[in-house]
Order: sequence, then structure tokens, then C-alpha cells
Amino acid sequence: MTTQREEFGSRIGFILAAAGSAVGIGNLVGFPVNAAKNGGGAFLLIYAIFVFTVCLPVMMAELAAGRKSNKNPLGAYQYFAPNQKLWSIGGWLSLITPFMIAVFYAVITLWVLGYLVAIISGDLNLVANPDYFGKFINSSKVFLYLAIITGIVWYILQSGIKEGIEKGAKFMMPTLFIMLVALVAFVLTQDNAAAGLHFYLVPDASKITPAVVNGALGQAFFSLSLGMGIMITYGSYMSRHNSIPGSAKMIAICDTGVAFTAGLMILPAIFSFNPDINPEELSSSSVSLIFTFLPKIFLALESSIGYIGASFIAASFFLLVLFAALTSLVSIIEVPVSGVMDQLGKTRKQALTIIGGGMILLSVFCALSFGLVSFFTEFAIYGGGIKSFFDLIIDVFYETILPLNGFLICMLVSYRWKRSEMHKELEKGDDNFHGSFTERYVDFSLSTFIPVILFLIFLNTVALKFFSFDVIAELF
Ligand code: PFF
Repeated sequence: MTTQREEFGSRIGFILAAAGSAVGIGNLVGFPVNAAKNGGGAFLLIYAIFVFTVCLPVMMAELAAGRKSNKNPLGAYQYFAPNQKLWSIGGWLSLITPFMIAVFYAVITLWVLGYLVAIISGDLNLVANPDYFGKFINSSKVFLYLAIITGIVWYILQSGIKEGIEKGAKFMMPTLFIMLVALVAFVLTQDNAAAGLHFYLVPDASKITPAVVNGALGQAFFSLSLGMGIMITYGSYMSRHNSIPGSAKMIAICDTGVAFTAGLMILPAIFSFNPDINPEELSSSSVSLIFTFLPKIFLALESSIGYIGASFIAASFFLLVLFAALTSLVSIIEVPVSGVMDQLGKTRKQALTIIGGGMILLSVFCALSFGLVSFFTEFAIYGGGIKSFFDLIIDVFYETILPLNGFLICMLVSYRWKRSEMHKELEKGDDNFHGSFTERYVDFSLSTFIPVILFLIFLNTVALKFFSFDVIAELF
């Protein structure tokens, strides 16, 4: 007996859930700082071009493959390429990658929760101390916060697509938008905010190097949650009355809009704290910015709005990041959960127990890799250095496999699935798609230059990360 697959209840619910996946920690801090360091307005323009010319067709392909097959990513690969072992490697990669990314993302999310709780309890002054982060990540509190994060995600996912994921996104995403706009409005009233805006927005074409272009594409691809099996999985829960091209455009606009707006908050805040700062000095790592740099900025607000006011702003920021991280975490864990449900015929709760159990174990290993246990702290040697378990997961799954997965999905939809069939799927729920420019563009790009670009990015990352060989620097 086949039971009907669950579906999102409404188009807006689907868009909010998928945008919730796409809007994550990368949007709120990583993007603004990268933009400011790498050419301001010029970077923004290149990023936006990549979102719409490269990432959008891949998102449509993932959503269409999911909706047509009605399956998790492994099931989708098997549906389009039955009994083909080589293709099912792509399917397995699209299940394992999100599982591993979820492991380290859960660790970062629990840190955000830990900071939020500390700030609400009146400890902003402690949190702003540069030594706090190192102590906190190696304290036993992290296990408590990991349990809380797992509990929240468990609660959302066990309620299913409509009652869990969709309801959660319908609450968290609008709240996130409102908090973001309110924080931008507040920050723009601070002294020297204009200097931050200047750095963020004024184009500087001289900073645009091949490495920056490569970085912009990688960031856009990651930011839209591509290559992680998420859009295939969410596509499988999408109603056939909804337009895939239209929804994909909304998700991309929402994700890029939040990333852009976050820059209007972060850079003016940095400049009002220190008008002489050179953004080049800022770390590119979202982690060090969120946990060591920004708390100092929040504490400095004490002189203008008092300690409670400063704590309120800081807590709002961490709550914003927490919502962004939770909606992303929920989406990524749903991928292996749907895999276990479809492939092994398990119920949602059983699948959650299997995936949740494995994830907690590996997340604990990650949490132990910052000095607590030397086996995990010095887990591997490659690329000229000793790497922790946490670093290894980031380098392999986050940095390297994502573009490979993107390449494989383009090849799958273009060369295993009849292209005319894919177009039929994209036409469902969209009266204007047939014969449109978008249709011709998606068809051409997915079968030609997009997979080539993604494969080159994959090769470049392997060379750089594991062999310390910078292909781009050698070539240009
Ligand atoms: N688009 C997400 C972000 O910018 O953070 C990417 C993501 C990461 C989604 C991790 C899900 C996830 F668990």
C-alpha cells in the first residue's frame, strides 16, 4: 500500500520554508563582510548575476527532480537512472552531505543559543571578552545546548511538513524579517553609520580578481542551499499546482534580499564602533565575527543606550541568527530523514531516531574537537596542517562536495531525464513557462556551461584544500 506523500499546505508556506533554509548564518554575517572586503557594490553585482544566471536554474532542476520523483535525493537518482550504480553514488552523496553538514551546523547553532542565553541572563560584558568564546566552546554547557537544539529540531520535524516545517517557518521567517529591519533602522541612527554604508555599497572594481569571482559563485551556491539535497527533498513535498520557476525566483530574491539587508546592519555597526577600521582586517569567518567581534560592538552601545539597552540589541541579534540557523538546520536534517523514510520504509519518528542518534554522536565528536579531546582536535593531516574533526567535515562536505553535487544534478536532469520531460514538470502550475525565455535559458545553461563551471570549482577546491595548490593564482 502506498500512502500519499506529505505536502506543504500553501505556496507561501513552501516559499517561507525554502527561504528559511536558504537564509542562514552565511547571509547574516559572511555575505556582508565578504562584499565589503571584495569590492563593495561591484561584488554585489557579480553575486546577484551568479544568483540569477547560475544558481536559479540549478534550484529549478533540484525542485523539479524532487517533485517529479516524489522522493528523497537517493530515491530521485534511482528514479531517473534505475539500476545504475554509478548514478546512485550521486544519490548517496546527496544524502550523506546534508547529514554531515547538519552535524557541524548544529554545533554552531548551539553556540548561538548559548550566547543568547548568556546575554539574556545579563552577561553581555562577559560574552564580549575575547577569551569567552574559547572557554565557552570547551565547557560542559555545550552538551546541554546541543540537547536543547536537538529537542527543538526534533519537535519541529516530528510534526511533519505542514504542521512542523511549514508552521515553524511561518512563525520564524516573518519574525526574522521584522527584527532585521528594526536592527537596520537602529544601527543607521548611530554615528559613522554612513562610513559603513560607503564601504559596503560603493563599487571598487579593482578588487574584483578571479579568486573573488570564484568566491562569489561559491557563496551564492551555498547560500541558496544548493547541492545539499534540500531543494530536491522540499520539491518532493511541493504541490503540482505551484509554479517551480516562480517559487524559485521568490526564494532567490528573499535570500539575496536578506543577505543585502544584513549588510546594512553589520557594516554601519562595525564603523560606528570603530570609524578607522579597515574592513580588510576583518576575518572572513562568520564564526569569529559572530562570537568574538560583534559582542564587543554590542557592549560598546552601553555608552549611548545603557547596559540593558545594549543587551537588548545583542539579544535581538542572536535571536535573529538563531532563527536563521534553526530553519536551515531543520531543512537539512529533513533530507536524510526523508531518505530513511522512503528507502527503508520507516515512520517519521523512527527515521528521526536513527538520524538524530547518529547526528548527536557526531556533533559531540565535533564539540570535542576544540581541545577537549586530542584525538578529535588533531584528527587528520592534509593541506599543510593538522585538522580537527570539525575542520575535516567543513573542508570535505561544506567546501568540496557541494559543487560536485551541483554538477551531478545538472548532468542527471539534462542527460538522464528527458529534457522535454523536465520542461513538462516546470510547466506544471506555471502557464507562462512554455516557450518563455526562461525555459530556453534553463535548458541551455543546465546542459552546457553550468555543469562545466561547477566541476571546475570542485577541482579547484580539491587542489586548494587538499594539495595546497592554488589553480586560480597559477593561471592568472
Ligand atoms: N543557505 C544556508 C546558509 O546560508 O547558512 C546554507 C545552509 C547551511 C543550509 C547549513 C542548511 C544548513 F544546515
